[in-house]
Amino acid sequence: MKIFIDSADIGEIKEAAAMGAIDGVTTNPSLLAKTGRGLKDTIVEICEVVDGPISAEVIATDTQGILTEGRELAALHKNVVVKVPLIIDGLKAVRQLTTEGIKTNVTLCFSPSQALLAAKAGATMISPFVGRLDDISMPGMELIEQIIDIYQNYDLSTEVLVASVRHPIHFVESARMGADIATVPLKVIQQLAQHPLTDIGLAKFLEDAKKIPKG
Ligand code: E4P
Repeated sequence: MKIFIDSADIGEIKEAAAMGAIDGVTTNPSLLAKTGRGLKDTIVEICEVVDGPISAEVIATDTQGILTEGRELAALHKNVVVKVPLIIDGLKAVRQLTTEGIKTNVTLCFSPSQALLAAKAGATMISPFVGRLDDISMPGMELIEQIIDIYQNYDLSTEVLVASVRHPIHFVESARMGADIATVPLKVIQQLAQHPLTDIGLAKFLEDAKKIPKG
């Protein structure tokens, strides 16, 4: 499973890239607003740090507006993937962007029927939001299982990108189900590396190392 970092913070992205963990990056307007920086400058800088798909989200909600913004974002760098909301105008735009060879990540997916339509429109990636479903007492990971089943039934090539990942169990279950990608905040990427027995074992080794005679 590929791991993307879900962040627009260049410091966080560099930190995750230094761990060797990162295959790509997803951003959204909320993540960008936290940085206080502009979309295009940030995307170009991210592309210099990570050599992989970098999702940049459009703000327009009508097909023509999405196409205009999508083409501008795609022109920034060969690795830009245009992130489009899962609305009817968005699907129309995805269909057109796909014919132009522009990659798309269809975002804000909360149902298997939405995911099937995105794949039919030619989406490169579909982003089902598992954490936000959990938040309203609907099991987010069940959606991932359903989408993977449907895509496999019809041999659809759209990649399943698990989004709104909130903790390591979302990540591990995604990998067990065969999701193509999980996009993960830095805090959760760091949690993935941690284990209390590693810390206890290391402390014991370092303590015992003091007893080893020199030489
Ligand atoms: C990624 O593409 C999404 O924008 C992101 O994972 C949403 O996560 P959140 O539900 O924690 O805001």
